[in-house]
Amino acid sequence: MTLGIHKLAVVLYAASTVARIDYSQYVNPLIGSEGPFPGLAFGGGDIFVGGALPFGVTKVGIDTYETNVSYATINGGYTPHGKVTGISMMHESGTGGAPKYGLVPQMPLTTVDEPVNVLDNRTYWQDRVGNDTARVGYYATQLENGVGVELSASRHAGLMQYAFPAGEKHVLVDASHYLPSETGGSNSQFYVGGSIQLQPNGKTYTGHTSVGGGFTEGAPITVYFCGEFEKAPDQARTFSGRLTDPISRYHTYSDAPVPEPMFAQNVSREVSGPLNDRVGALFSWSNSSSATVRSRVGISFISTNKACAFKNQEIPSWNLTNTVNAAVNEWNRDVFSKIRVPTDSSQNRTNLVLLYSSLYFTHLMPSDRTGENPLWQSGEPSWDDFYTLWDIFRCTVSLYHLIQPSYYQGMVRSLIDIWRYEGFMPDGRSGNYNGLVQGGSNADNVLADAYVKNLPGINWTAGYQAMLKDAEVQPYNTFSLTDPTASVKEGRGALYDWIPLGYVSSDRSTRPVSRTVEYALNDFSLSQVARGLAPDDVQKYLNRSANWQNIWAHNLTHRNFTGFLAPRLSNGMFNLTDYNPALCGNCEWQSISYEGVPFEYSFTIPHDMETLIQFMGGADAFERRLDYIHMANTSEQNLGANGAAIDTIMNIGNEPDFATPYEYNYINKQYKSVQHARALANQYFHNAPYGVPGNSDAGALNSWLIWQMLGLYPVVTQPVYLVQSPWFEDVNMTINGNRTLRITATGLDNEGGGYYVQGVRVNGGVWERNWVGHEEIMVEGGLVEFELGSEMRRWETGAVPPSPGHVVL
Ligand SMILES: *[C@@H]1O[C@H](CO)[C@@H](O)[C@H](O)[C@H]1NC(C)=O
Ligand SMILES: *[C@@H]1O[C@H](CO)[C@@H](O)[C@H](O)[C@H]1NC(C)=O
Ligand SMILES: *[C@@H]1O[C@H](CO)[C@@H](O)[C@H](O)[C@H]1NC(C)=O
Ligand SMILES: *[C@@H]1O[C@H](CO)[C@@H](O)[C@H](O)[C@H]1NC(C)=O
Ligand SMILES: *[C@@H]1O[C@H](CO)[C@@H](O)[C@H](O)[C@H]1NC(C)=O
Ligand SMILES: *[C@@H]1O[C@H](CO)[C@@H](O)[C@H](O)[C@H]1NC(C)=O
Ligand SMILES: *[C@@H]1O[C@H](CO)[C@@H](O)[C@H](O)[C@H]1NC(C)=O
Ligand SMILES: *[C@@H]1O[C@H](CO)[C@@H](O)[C@H](O)[C@H]1NC(C)=O
Ligand SMILES: *[C@@H]1O[C@H](CO)[C@@H](O)[C@H](O)[C@H]1NC(C)=O
Ligand SMILES: *[C@@H]1O[C@H](CO)[C@@H](O)[C@H](O)[C@H]1NC(C)=O
Ligand SMILES: *[C@@H]1O[C@H](CO)[C@@H](O)[C@H](O)[C@H]1NC(C)=O
Ligand SMILES: *[C@@H]1O[C@H](CO)[C@@H](O)[C@H](O)[C@H]1NC(C)=O
Repeated sequence: MTLGIHKLAVVLYAASTVARIDYSQYVNPLIGSEGPFPGLAFGGGDIFVGGALPFGVTKVGIDTYETNVSYATINGGYTPHGKVTGISMMHESGTGGAPKYGLVPQMPLTTVDEPVNVLDNRTYWQDRVGNDTARVGYYATQLENGVGVELSASRHAGLMQYAFPAGEKHVLVDASHYLPSETGGSNSQFYVGGSIQLQPNGKTYTGHTSVGGGFTEGAPITVYFCGEFEKAPDQARTFSGRLTDPISRYHTYSDAPVPEPMFAQNVSREVSGPLNDRVGALFSWSNSSSATVRSRVGISFISTNKACAFKNQEIPSWNLTNTVNAAVNEWNRDVFSKIRVPTDSSQNRTNLVLLYSSLYFTHLMPSDRTGENPLWQSGEPSWDDFYTLWDIFRCTVSLYHLIQPSYYQGMVRSLIDIWRYEGFMPDGRSGNYNGLVQGGSNADNVLADAYVKNLPGINWTAGYQAMLKDAEVQPYNTFSLTDPTASVKEGRGALYDWIPLGYVSSDRSTRPVSRTVEYALNDFSLSQVARGLAPDDVQKYLNRSANWQNIWAHNLTHRNFTGFLAPRLSNGMFNLTDYNPALCGNCEWQSISYEGVPFEYSFTIPHDMETLIQFMGGADAFERRLDYIHMANTSEQNLGANGAAIDTIMNIGNEPDFATPYEYNYINKQYKSVQHARALANQYFHNAPYGVPGNSDAGALNSWLIWQMLGLYPVVTQPVYLVQSPWFEDVNMTINGNRTLRITATGLDNEGGGYYVQGVRVNGGVWERNWVGHEEIMVEGGLVEFELGSEMRRWETGAVPPSPGHVVL
């Protein structure tokens, strides 16, 4: 009932605001599909490829397996040359760690004779021939067995169209299918049961699957499904078989070989029962029936009835083109047309592709599961697949704030609702489960960023309570093998150090350097929200936000630079034995710092750049250090295949460094920010399969590029944007719902180096600062006019960007 009304509203809205330019033509959905080894996803973006809507629940695409296991990465399901094991409804995009999802599959087969065993994916998996086709809302591939696959997606459903060659036609539905972890390990996914039921009309099947584990180390998530074929199969058989996955905690026959299926005789329903049996169904059409088999599948986290309703309402027609067109219209209307740049033939198409593809990748995650929360009833929006806030807090959410205010309000309300019902906001969350925490409790930064920019519709009383929980309550230890010392599920695992010592110690805690700087920013976030909610708390959290200073080793010299973050023992002594701030071990959970070396983390104090610059020896020394990290061959840490051959300490492939190239603004040398950030963008971001430097991280890397192309960079937790230099002569951004921010540039020459700022006007007036406030251009809209040229000018004369957390301990 409510679904019908919702749909009507969307259609009416669409009629009045349909986008006039088809920006989707500039999207290359394969950017990030490959890494440094041609044909392999390894070291690449780990992106999802397939049919999806902005923040949609379903991401419909192939699941693959790369047999060269030590060079395999299948996190997004898609790999350039991997063997297809199924076409499934749920995927992540851009993530690292152990794969998650790959649930609710179909697999078209042209034979089920031996050696095919429907319980053994290795006996029926398929290579692909020719090249895949990927467009917004559409994906096509050709399997080696001759089946052509085309697909598209709506919000909770997908449409698959199979073109079979002459001969047998089968579609396998293995309810126990999921994306495996090639390398095994404690956070692999595992199946714990399912069911499948053939409906009396002969065309429809329903059921569920429950799968746990994956990156979040999560409890099992149950997904209900409802699939339908356009034409009833001539034969439909359910089957079951023993579960032989070697997951010791559950009932399995772990030493058994892959079982043979037991096909049921005239049984329309199979359930996994107490031993978590694998269950599925095989649908077959006679050789003489039509070569085209179409199927639509809906999913729900509540019931098969809802899954069927989504399927029927969202995909009312069997014509694939209709679903593709609906997807393209929604992407154009709700995403691409929010940033409009000139598209006439004189424009550089590569830059259009980089802009609109980046917008696409920043809207594949998180997932809007509103109305589909199986864990509690609250009436609040429900979102999942914050995978992870650690990646997207730095500049992705600030973009959502501007161009997706209502979706973003939903995300923030959902974060607070998770605290209300589960006790903590997530840092990462997927499959309805919080995890893994990589550093601090970064939902705090998201809330502070939204608060200082006045995101409407948020219960800030509750928001601040959720932040206080992070700041004051030690989460219980999850004893994860990833890091057994403290919780990796949520909260701040090292509060036992942070509160009494004022830093995260290197002898009692893991990641002492990176967690100290992250907790400091988290506490700054509390101070920002406390200004309105709890004025008495402001000074307390401001003081705590300066705690990074407690691990600053003022006399430590490395490569002629003095003063670095360094490991400090719980007894108060620094431990500088064998310490090199340019190394991190493995940069993992149990390392000294996470996904970055202390040298990099030494630049990540956005709330008090004033003290940081002073600690580094003043503006000149700070500038020399920034220059140094951008120089070739300065990296001492081996970044491995994920490192995109980056040989500078500055690593744009990892989020901690996102703001670093822009820090010249803090010494009023903005031209150097432009110089280095442009160079990074040009060197590492391409319209190519290997087009992002490492995992795209749910679109975090892509959002960095969007800001770069706009000529602005947001300072997280502050209502401040650093002025850079745009890549387009004219940009109209729809912000704050219906206002327009216009950014223009004269003298721009992207290829010839004509992108240094000669002068800026804001809302018509000459602008002397290299930063602008949110109020100045982002509330009512505004106009930023750049005069660009090739001269590296120190054009700014005004005050440097603020350091609102300035406290010296
Ligand atoms: C796996 O891929 C890597 C990178 O292409 C290659 O060096 C290696 O030889 C491959 N191993 C096998 C067994 O094919
Ligand atoms: C597939 O794409 C590659 C790279 O663009 C091209 O060289 C090749 O010819 C294409 N193959 C087919 C069968 O179209
Ligand atoms: C095949 O299925 C089994 C059982 O679900 C699973 O353990 C395995 O990882 C799958 N392999 C591939 C290549 O998907
Ligand atoms: C299958 O079961 C249905 C109802 O349970 C019954 O009417 C039908 O005769 C059975 N068919 C066969 C082939 O056993
Ligand atoms: C599907 O719809 C498109 C336009 O909506 C139309 O051009 C096409 O002919 C339709 N295809 C079929 C098979 O009906
Ligand atoms: C931006 O908006 C202005 C004012 O409406 C218009 O003149 C200009 O053509 C627009 N530019 C683009 C690229 O849409
Ligand atoms: C378009 O821009 C890209 C970089 O974004 C550059 O490599 C390319 O040379 C440009 N193309 C033209 C025709 O100027
Ligand atoms: C806001 O949250 C607070 C704290 O949880 C609660 O007491 C209050 O009722 C909420 N206000 C509204 C309007 O929901
Ligand atoms: C000091 O650091 C060294 C090098 O990492 C380590 O071997 C040693 O155990 C540390 N000392 C203490 C007391 O933790
Ligand atoms: C560090 O240097 C300062 C000033 O140069 C000096 O006062 C202090 O004693 C030094 N500390 C250590 C631990 O060497
Ligand atoms: C450090 O400074 C000394 C003296 O100024 C100089 O000789 C040396 O090359 C510098 N080292 C580095 C790594 O810059
Ligand atoms: C923007 O939307 C608000 C709220 O719906 C409305 O009050 C306002 O008039 C609109 N402004 C413009 C310029 O359309």
